[in-house]
Amino acid sequence: MEAFLYEYGNLLLRWLHVIAAISWIGESIYFVMLDNSLHAPRDERGKKLGVFGEMWAVHGGGFYHNQKYLTNPPELPADLHWSFWKSYTTWLSGFALFSIMYLMKPAFYLVNPNSPWTWAASMNGLQAGILAVAFLVVGYIIYSQLCRRISPNMERDGLLSLAVGIMMVAVAWLTVQIFPGRAAFLITGALMATCMSANVFFWIIPGQRRMVAALKAGQAPDPLDGKRGKQRSVHNTYFTLPVVFLMLSNHYSFTYTSPYAWIIMVLFIFAGAVIRQYFVLRHMGKNQLGYPVAGVVLLALVGWLAAPSTADKPAANVPAKAAQQVPGSAGMAETGMAAGTAEEAGGQDTAPASDRGATLERVHAIVVARCTECHSAKPTFAGIASAPAGIVLDTNEQTIMHAAQIKQVVGSKYMPLGNITKMTDDERAVIAAWAGQ
Ligand code: HEC
Repeated sequence: MEAFLYEYGNLLLRWLHVIAAISWIGESIYFVMLDNSLHAPRDERGKKLGVFGEMWAVHGGGFYHNQKYLTNPPELPADLHWSFWKSYTTWLSGFALFSIMYLMKPAFYLVNPNSPWTWAASMNGLQAGILAVAFLVVGYIIYSQLCRRISPNMERDGLLSLAVGIMMVAVAWLTVQIFPGRAAFLITGALMATCMSANVFFWIIPGQRRMVAALKAGQAPDPLDGKRGKQRSVHNTYFTLPVVFLMLSNHYSFTYTSPYAWIIMVLFIFAGAVIRQYFVLRHMGKNQLGYPVAGVVLLALVGWLAAPSTADKPAANVPAKAAQQVPGSAGMAETGMAAGTAEEAGGQDTAPASDRGATLERVHAIVVARCTECHSAKPTFAGIASAPAGIVLDTNEQTIMHAAQIKQVVGSKYMPLGNITKMTDDERAVIAAWAGQ
């Protein structure tokens, strides 16, 4: 029951998180579009009032006339509309989700026993949890320091973007070394999302509050507050597409279990940024197709890197060899079951021990020992209420059905999570040889 309530809570939080994020990102994209579509006021009245730019739009069965004043509107109405709860709700619900999944079960979501760094591989759950949160906090501090030092008066935007880009490459690489791939992608995305919400919380909203207070006191607002708010919201714009990818990547294990995981992450981050750049420019009336083309090239590179490697081929040859030894069995070799039996019949071949043992019976025994605590119609692993990712491995048919996926997650050592059921390399070799059939 507890495990079910946990699952249900997870679903409700995720629902809230996605809806808040849609509202926030949608509004943010709208305001960037609005800002970039503004043109100087055409009538005398607007000019006299000090309107900086305006846009007409038709939507929802009516006409809208937006006007932007930089820091000097003639009067401020009492019912000024502010936007920040969408951002805060997105971050808070996201952090809550991160907590109930990753921080509550760090031993299998955050500890990476396969890390190339021994100190990382030997961290306990608490240490891994603290390190993950430190990534968010320290990451934001470094980002914010870059903004303040490189661009104290909102100058050198190009250099600042370059520095932030390099920082994200470093974060992608570091997280992939330290954490399991799935957590690495999530933490990198969560860091970007934290920068976005912190920009709203620490800079954009306080700056706007100072501007409003100055206007109410009859003073001229500090133009730097406006410019800084603008700079940080421009950063947020370029973060949005990469963040959404990094959150979605969690459902596509080929991204984060790839040996090129950090490069895939970097390529996606830059693809998202350049695609966004195209739309930013487009709203300014410039149609620069080079940007989406660059985005597509980066995404094609991801596909090329992430595609199953040809190094899998030797394993796939094993059953063919085994089947050849038993006349008449080749036609049945397609089903794992037939190939396994054929191999047993041809008992005294010279294949390595792990290949020879790659029968469905052997695989099933491994799956029962290492996987079905979680991947069962009735999981027995504490805290798992239903088969994770919908993958049930109770029967041979189910195991055969998921063979390709099993091969991938076992080969990359992503499963069993945190190797909590202590799967051996030999068993992984058996699975690889069998699934190759
Ligand atoms: C401690 C519990 C646990 C054990 C043991 C475990 N898994 Fe998983 N598995 C999970 C969880 C949780 C997920 C969902 C995480 C995700 O979506 O990446 C998952 C996801 C998967 C997926 C889907 C990955 C994808 O593409 O999204 C496959 C395939 C899988 N496991 C196979 C296995 C195999 C094979 C074993 C045994 C060698 C195994 N798992 C052992 C918990 C476990």
